[in-house]
Amino acid sequence: MSDKKLWAGRFSEPTDAFVEAFTASVEFDQRLAPQDIRGSIAHATMLARQGILSAAERDAIVEGLEQILARIEAGQFAWSVAREDVHMNIEAALTEAIGEAGKKLHTGRSRNDQVATDIRLWLREEIAALRAELSRLRGNLLDLAEREAETILPGFTHLQTAQPITFGHHLMAWFEMLERDDGRLADCARRAKRCPLGAAALAGTTFPIDREYTAELLGFDGPCRNSLDAVSDRDFAIEFAAAASLLMMHLSRMSEELIVWSSAQFGFVTLSDAFCTGSSIMPQKKNPDVPELIRGKSGRVFGHLMALLTLMKSQPLAYNKDNQEDKEPLFDIADNLRGSLKVFADMIPAITPNRERMRAAALQGFATATDLADYLVRRGLPFRDAHEVVGKAVAHCVQAGCDLAELSLDTLREFSPLIEQDVFEVLTLEGSVAARDHVGGTAPAQVRRAIAEARQRLAGEST
Ligand code: ARG
Repeated sequence: MSDKKLWAGRFSEPTDAFVEAFTASVEFDQRLAPQDIRGSIAHATMLARQGILSAAERDAIVEGLEQILARIEAGQFAWSVAREDVHMNIEAALTEAIGEAGKKLHTGRSRNDQVATDIRLWLREEIAALRAELSRLRGNLLDLAEREAETILPGFTHLQTAQPITFGHHLMAWFEMLERDDGRLADCARRAKRCPLGAAALAGTTFPIDREYTAELLGFDGPCRNSLDAVSDRDFAIEFAAAASLLMMHLSRMSEELIVWSSAQFGFVTLSDAFCTGSSIMPQKKNPDVPELIRGKSGRVFGHLMALLTLMKSQPLAYNKDNQEDKEPLFDIADNLRGSLKVFADMIPAITPNRERMRAAALQGFATATDLADYLVRRGLPFRDAHEVVGKAVAHCVQAGCDLAELSLDTLREFSPLIEQDVFEVLTLEGSVAARDHVGGTAPAQVRRAIAEARQRLAGEST
């Protein structure tokens, strides 16, 4: 095969060998081959409909491209670094296969609008796949939250015992975080649904093209409205990286909690052996590798976001070769995010909550102190005074090494005569969570309602 450069007409010297390899992108952008071929088929179909190509030329191009795709998928396509990128590899192979008609495919387009189209097509598909995994994860969270709607554990602020909460409520907090992430991904895909083809190098083309038709053939909502913008901006990629970063940030927080909860000291949950590994030296170890690795992967995704922002910063319009650097971060984000979502979705049903351990922990640390203060408020004491009274009672318990609920009524009354026998109802864990019975509260009834509403929203989402 001839490796003569498709753009070599004005050149009299060959490319420096190192520069050729340095500027080539084929090693990574060959991943865009299916999108590139789809874009080319749509472009050729439009050119023929506009009378710019003959029907016979279009048919030869479409058939030739389909055969090339089959070769690529079978691993039988010889990628050439001398041909620089996925676009020129495919175009050159097409001309080799079908002759003259192949040379006409590039009429009225440029690699600039071509690559901008390929990435958008790829990203749309990738986001759909990511959202499908995310939806599976969210569904699994709802199932676990439903089973654990009444399970009580300590809620923390500053990682210090704060108030009792239900485990289902905690899991539904995760669900809310992930629902916003899904919205961000959907939003990003929606904005990427504009077709750059027809922008050509930067200014459009002199041929009588039909951009609406090409956009429609490729499932876009319509063409990009400005040719310079169409080939130059990668804001959609940055947006995806930002949405992915937030999602990884959330997964890292969820991972961190699983890691802490599965420690011997907490013992709130047991992770299935299938998601842990052992130590080569310490026989007793069972390490939560999967959540740890996801926590770690958040770092590389944040790094890619910064790389893409910096790549775009200060670039003059329109296309610059800098933009070739968008692909590796994008691919790496998508691959790591997809893997993280998949393994998280698989791991959730394999979590065993240790309800007794959670309950025992909730009984420590005076989790119901706020309930006692609220009780005094209902008896007429201003909240600030109630806070003071309970603070003293807690200090007494710390000294005595007991819980508030273990104090006798007489002892409690030494702190406030407003306290009566019914105080013990508010000091129980069940009483405490059940009392927070409003929208967004931790009461089991509210958790069940939140789950039912979430199920409906999840079922109504389309990817
Ligand atoms: N490989 C290039 C990229 O990924 C394709 C576009 C190149 N265009 C150009 N005029 N050099 O951005």
